[in-house]
Amino acid sequence: MKNYKELIDNYEVAVYPKRDLVIVKGKEATVWDDEDYEYIDCVAGIGVATIGHSNPAVVKAITEQAETLITNACVFYNDTRALLLEKLNQITPPNLKRSFLTNSGTEAMEAALKFARISTGKTDFITAMKGFHGRTMGSLSGTFKPEIRKDFEPLVPGFSFVPYNNLEKMEAAITERTAGIILELIQGEGGINIASQEYLEGVRALCDKHDILMIIDEIQTGFCRTGKMFAIEHFGIEPDIMTVAKGIAGGFPVGAAICSDKVNVPFGKHGTTFGGNPLASAAGLAAIDFMLDNDLAEEARKKGDYFVSKLNVDELSKVREVRHKGLMIGIELKEKVQPYLQQLMEEGVLAMPAGKIVLRMLPPAVITYEQLDKVAEVLNRILK
Ligand SMILES: Cc1ncc(COP(=O)(O)O)c(C=O)c1O
Repeated sequence: MKNYKELIDNYEVAVYPKRDLVIVKGKEATVWDDEDYEYIDCVAGIGVATIGHSNPAVVKAITEQAETLITNACVFYNDTRALLLEKLNQITPPNLKRSFLTNSGTEAMEAALKFARISTGKTDFITAMKGFHGRTMGSLSGTFKPEIRKDFEPLVPGFSFVPYNNLEKMEAAITERTAGIILELIQGEGGINIASQEYLEGVRALCDKHDILMIIDEIQTGFCRTGKMFAIEHFGIEPDIMTVAKGIAGGFPVGAAICSDKVNVPFGKHGTTFGGNPLASAAGLAAIDFMLDNDLAEEARKKGDYFVSKLNVDELSKVREVRHKGLMIGIELKEKVQPYLQQLMEEGVLAMPAGKIVLRMLPPAVITYEQLDKVAEVLNRILK
């Protein structure tokens, strides 16, 4: 057998430190390594496999589509893309009408930035401290963390950062050049920080008052993760652009910038070769239908609440706070999280960090209650 670790260590641009595990197979919320050990997967491709690994509906859709048509440029109409666009229109807030389909979250953010500039004729963006929006030059410019920005400066000019959930600071940062305000509703990478209702209503009002586009990044929170199809539904607010990716297509790489009528992009000002290709569209359609047919949003809500209720928080001396909405779960520790991730892995549970001290879990919404019990039991033991 080939030594996969060695091959990756030798031939991959090593941008990620690795866990000592070769994952080769997945089904629902379980993954297997190359020695056939199984793990409960609360990483799920970093919040991607919400409908479960190798979901049969997506496998069938991809297989059938692959036999029919894999690629098609967006200069032609296409049946599968048409149906995915219609589906996105049906499940997103009513004012969001048109989507630009991409292959990743960061590309959706890049589209949102360009669309906001060209639609408003303005140049600048305000975004939140601890916010994360991607790693390409535009989205990185709106990402807070200095360690991942500083080696790539100069970045795109015109971005400013304000404290999250602080409306006064947001208002003070607005200028006549502000094209967009970009926010996550729950900061994922930043530590599972949840926006308040008053804050978001205030931001919406500021955007209306100053002719600014409200750009909501649902790349991590979207597609049932937080107990609603989109986290924006918790707040009853309509954004002007919503970016999505991750959970949209069961693991197939798909993203979108979904836009209201305030967005106008003339022909030729943006484009993509792969975005909206038939294979990706078929995967997205099948995945979204699975979410709707199985009410996965409600599953995520119930299972998130159940899981947190199983944690004996008062007895966990290593824990400062547990924050969650649905199955977007952050356990803030009083110390570094890394050793606990290793311990969890040894106990057959995969989880990840959000910053240095928050243990983040984004399990599939098809995870079983038995699996949640097992994860809670391990955490109750190791975080005591
Ligand atoms: C909130 C948020 N925005 C943007 C991104 C970037 O998405 P991608 O990694 O698909 O480019 C991520 C990825 O983790 C994210 O969590």
